[in-house]
Amino acid sequence: MVLAGDGIGPEVTDAALRVLDVVVRRAGVAVEVTTGVIGGAAIDATGEPLPAVTLAQVDRNSPVLLGAVGGPRWAKGPRPEAGLLELRRYMGLWANLRPFEVFAGLEDQSPLKRPHGIKGLIIRELTGGAYFGEPRGRGGEGEQGWALDTMIYHRYEIERIVRLGFQYAERAAVPLTSIDKANVLESSRLWRETVEQVREDFPAVMVQHRLVDAAAMDLVIHSDQFQVVVTENLFGDILSDLAGGLVGSLGLLGSSSVSGQPGTRGLFEPVHGSAPDIAGQGLANPVGALLSLVGLMRWSWQDDALADAIEIAVKEALRSGARTRDIGGSDSTESFTQAVIKQLQT
Ligand code: NAD
Ligand code: IPM
Ligand code: MN
Repeated sequence: MVLAGDGIGPEVTDAALRVLDVVVRRAGVAVEVTTGVIGGAAIDATGEPLPAVTLAQVDRNSPVLLGAVGGPRWAKGPRPEAGLLELRRYMGLWANLRPFEVFAGLEDQSPLKRPHGIKGLIIRELTGGAYFGEPRGRGGEGEQGWALDTMIYHRYEIERIVRLGFQYAERAAVPLTSIDKANVLESSRLWRETVEQVREDFPAVMVQHRLVDAAAMDLVIHSDQFQVVVTENLFGDILSDLAGGLVGSLGLLGSSSVSGQPGTRGLFEPVHGSAPDIAGQGLANPVGALLSLVGLMRWSWQDDALADAIEIAVKEALRSGARTRDIGGSDSTESFTQAVIKQLQT
């Protein structure tokens, strides 16, 4: 099912659906697409960012392609973002796979001096840490007013995400970079301990423990050293937007929010947000949404042929010069999508 959400969300999911339509028609498979509401759009319709009607739909249909949620219109009252967080928790999606790559032809859009071949995967823990820790809240008044968030991790939460990181690193025969703040945070010390435990099961995988501050610098300076990264929720959120900067635009990153085994349902969501500054103008880059659809096909449908077709068409469209404004071109969402469809038809 599709949850388009707010801002550019509907613009980019619409592009993804049109590309999906072309590939499934060509492959002769039938796909039923249903739509539901989330975020600000759901608040407008029902008063809640994740209404029961959406959850009921999620339970009947899987997997889910998401656009984006949030925007200045919903600054007061219930927050659209709460709907997305609740959906991730409801679906039990503890792992968020965020690949980044400098695409051929887009090297000039990267701020790096040597962007060629930069390609990596950030594996972000998605249902723990400061995002969900209790207690949280506000108290006091005036100068004594306070706000509290709790960053908490249980060993099992760390173990499963770290194990996934080892599996990816092992399969790609590259080192695993674990990013934490173990010089300050207790939760990071448990994180590091757990990495040391799990590595016993993966003797062939080299492990680098990195502190998040220096790792952020190194992601810029030595981007090629970060092939498979595993990190906690908040650090992963921040570092993946940094990776968007490295490849030339946040609009280029897709992601897969998953749990357990491939072949199960998940939530497939661009890394970017609702981009209120360009929403409604037909300027959004749909690549993040298209690559999220690719992630859906690989993870939930286990259909590499369909996924490859779209991924190759996107890369070829970019290589042949199709570019939205964020990556230095003048294409609209629509004309870029047409360029991808044209690639699919050749
Ligand atoms: P943003 O990711 O929406 O935008 C950051 C910048 O990147 C903006 O200049 C925007 O124009 C640009 N950008 C992002 N995606 C683009 C695309 N596909 N094509 C072209 N340019 C693109 O981040 P923000 O402005 O900090 O947040 C706006 C809202 O989105 C907030 O309410 C935030 O909470 C929400 N948000 C939602 C998600 C999500 O739904 N997964 C993710 C991040 C932020
Ligand atoms: C993301 C977003 C979300 C997050 C927000 C909108 C809750 O920034 O998907 O990266 O912080 O996880
Ligand atoms: Mn984010």
